[in-house]
Amino acid sequence: MSDKSAKSSNVVWHQTTVERTMREQLNGHKGAILWFTGLSGSGKSTLANAVEGKLHELGVRTYVLDGDNIRHGLCGDLGFSDADRVENIRRIGEVAKLFLEAGTVALTAFISPFQADRDRVRGLVPAGDFFEIYCQCDLAVCEERDVKGLYKKARSGEIPEFTGISSPYEAPEKPAVVVDTAKNTLSESVDIVLVALRKQGVISN
Ligand code: ADX
Repeated sequence: MSDKSAKSSNVVWHQTTVERTMREQLNGHKGAILWFTGLSGSGKSTLANAVEGKLHELGVRTYVLDGDNIRHGLCGDLGFSDADRVENIRRIGEVAKLFLEAGTVALTAFISPFQADRDRVRGLVPAGDFFEIYCQCDLAVCEERDVKGLYKKARSGEIPEFTGISSPYEAPEKPAVVVDTAKNTLSESVDIVLVALRKQGVISN
């Protein structure tokens, strides 16, 4: 563990007494980052929460970080320009890494439109601990759902830089899991994610 990204050269990494593996041992399962990405309205939050519910039932320690909620606090100072989205994902990546080191399963639900940003988070943690989960859903379907009425506002120009309309979304190049939220039921989608976690040894039951 290093502090290569620290602005000041006068901060020195302090080795912790209790390490991740010790926390994982206590928890009885491995930590992981489940990174849900997709358009607004593609079902990221719904799926992340449903997966969390199932994991909780299985005795797994979890925490959901959700775009709309985090933007009320930690990232309340950020908007939706490309630069602000990059910073949003950088912060969430670092927070998710802390949860991972705490030995928990962090589930993040952010549009996270840029592949480079998602790859940067992947690179922060050991290989195999980061699961990029693509909530695939056609823009037309997301727009039809328009749960928050934001697509309508984006089309009318009331909301600028809206993902899929006036701001880009880069679909994952090599996602660990793809869930088609227009075709799969919620329970099918949850199962698809859990299968991947068992395969990787995050959960054993
Ligand atoms: S991200 O692009 O930086 O990853 P994030 O997931 O945090 O976005 O926030 C997306 C949520 O903010 C959407 O689900 C939507 O409710 C709301 N939102 C408000 N304005 C925009 C916009 N211009 N583009 C996308 N989402 C927006």
